[in-house]
Amino acid sequence: MQDYRTFLAEVLVTREQLQSRIAALGREISHDYQGEELLLICILRGGVLFLTDLIREIDVPLAVDFMAVSSYGSGARESSGQVRITLDLNTSVEGKNVILVEDIVDSGHTIASVLDLLATRHPKSLVVCTLLDKAERREEDVPIKYRGFTIPNKFVFGYGLDIDEYYRNLPFVGVVDLEKYRPEE
Ligand code: IMP
Ligand code: MG
Repeated sequence: MQDYRTFLAEVLVTREQLQSRIAALGREISHDYQGEELLLICILRGGVLFLTDLIREIDVPLAVDFMAVSSYGSGARESSGQVRITLDLNTSVEGKNVILVEDIVDSGHTIASVLDLLATRHPKSLVVCTLLDKAERREEDVPIKYRGFTIPNKFVFGYGLDIDEYYRNLPFVGVVDLEKYRPEE
């Protein structure tokens, strides 16, 4: 696997910036849901690092569950309008305060489909918390209640976000120089 340093254009969000912003989000969520309980739903796999750091900063009772989705068609770096659930929840969302936790909202198709699906299961409340918001790329209007960082229209990796499934483990968010990245055959 190619060393990320050979195609890292810049570090967009440092480890320290992630830590302090996530702590602030955790405080905000704790404040908003005082006296309530929460179900955090993480969309696999990109949201996992964010979820596990975020829940340590929330001090209301909470449960977590996971979903996986894949989008049909187009290239590996574009999501299409159609999203298929590949792993569904284990728990019921009915009557629960649900926060959908995502790594990044790009076109908005993924999160819009998941929101539509979950809404049919009658949660008490349902909001989105995303670490990154690539706002310029939005094609579908999605309500984002909690947002870590708004970022420019660049392909990013690290801290849960992959390039062809690798580099999720890096503790920062970096920008890919697509001229220097060489996909394996
Ligand atoms: P959307 O459906 O276009 O909003 O795409 C959302 C999904 O695309 C995210 O959950 C990511 O898995 C992936 N994605 C979008 N932009 C990036 C990026 O810059 N780096 C890595 N993955 C991305
Ligand atoms: Mg991905």
